[in-house]
Amino acid sequence: MLEGEIEVHGGKNSVLKALPASLLFAGPVGFDNVPRIEDVFRMNELLTELGAKVSKKGKRLFEVDPRTLKGTSLKKELAKSIRVSVVLAGPLLARAKRAAFPHPGGDVIGKRPIDIFLEGWRAFGAKIRANKEGYEISAKKIKGADFTFRQPSVTATETLMLTAVLAKGRTILRNAALEPEIPALAEFLNSSGAAIKGAGTPTMEIVGTDGRLLRAKKPFRIIPDRIDAGSFLILGALLGKKIKIKNCEPKHLETPIAVLESCGAKIKRGPNWLSVSRPRHLKSRDLKTKEYPGFATDLQAPYTVLMTQAGGQSLIHETVFEGRLNYIEELNKMGASITPCDPHRILVFGPTPLKGREIAAPDIRAGLAFLMAALCAKGESRIKNVYQIDRGYEKIEERLAKIGAEIKRI
Ligand code: EPU
Repeated sequence: MLEGEIEVHGGKNSVLKALPASLLFAGPVGFDNVPRIEDVFRMNELLTELGAKVSKKGKRLFEVDPRTLKGTSLKKELAKSIRVSVVLAGPLLARAKRAAFPHPGGDVIGKRPIDIFLEGWRAFGAKIRANKEGYEISAKKIKGADFTFRQPSVTATETLMLTAVLAKGRTILRNAALEPEIPALAEFLNSSGAAIKGAGTPTMEIVGTDGRLLRAKKPFRIIPDRIDAGSFLILGALLGKKIKIKNCEPKHLETPIAVLESCGAKIKRGPNWLSVSRPRHLKSRDLKTKEYPGFATDLQAPYTVLMTQAGGQSLIHETVFEGRLNYIEELNKMGASITPCDPHRILVFGPTPLKGREIAAPDIRAGLAFLMAALCAKGESRIKNVYQIDRGYEKIEERLAKIGAEIKRI
């Protein structure tokens, strides 16, 4: 059983959109509460390649100075190593009227096209040239647009928001994504001279500055990582004697809290903390992933691990990505009883004891799920490809050691 306090860091999926936003500024921009994770290092390398100056000012404080920006083309290998590099094209287009980047491609969790981004940029009056190397997007002028997302996309909403901020005229984004990272980004941009209304609702209105660059009055404090916190909540429901999760934002976790409580987990909350303990009898509950405020797809694999230890049968329905159930074979080899129904659904029968094995992390979130399964299993497990876990979770073994986990990095 695990017991003690564990700290949540700044949100990966917040900082990875905040750092590109620095290209909209006239001078240096500070970022505080920055998680030290591999994806952030890659984003900083991309910004440096473009000519921006990235400096570390403290343990979690970075500054990006865009005044030395010289390029508008993303370095191929680097950009391909993190899909979220596509976000840089939004502010590049806004500021320099051109952006070139490689096909970001699919990954293990799905095909992950960027067609919605391209539709959005066209609505702003941009021209798009695609060839086998990638895309070149350019515009003489970025004009405000009335654009409807045919399906909500988190990163496309953020990227088009960053394109619209310096545009000429008013932009309306309809059927926008609602994830909390979006209002956090808007709030910071507004405090720096942007005019964005409705972020966090389906309809956003952005009055462009017509080329006037933003000026930061204070560093952007990155909001707590709700996936970090949600993963620890699930871990607590699985193995917690009592785990206190510190520096989180409980308001961003209402659905996972409700789901875990209905499984029997005992959860208490404070203004910026949660505590969780494993119930005597863990109940199985069906799950359907959904866009925010629904149950995040990023917590689906950890939840499946929890369900392997719950009494009964649970149906897990992954609605967001088509490749995000690719880890079940490995869990079955550990002793789980999971049956695939179709590409989007699995049935988990529990409880089944798990036994330690060698497993390879396929992606960030399934990687963490494997770590949780390994902690729950009898015997030792070896997790390979931990770079995937390091992409999204800072020093996970040190943080988990504080609550009693025995993990050694080799
Ligand atoms: N989609 C398209 N075309 C597009 C864009 C998206 O068809 O042009 C589809 C996607 O393939 C997917 C759906 O729309 O089926 C929703 O995807 P979305 O665009 O919202 O996802 P994302 O912005 O690419 C972000 C997070 C993911 C998280 C999802 C869902 C970042 C950097 N990534 O991805 O995080 O799972 O939202 O909440 O913010 C992770 O952190 O491990 C991760 C994958």
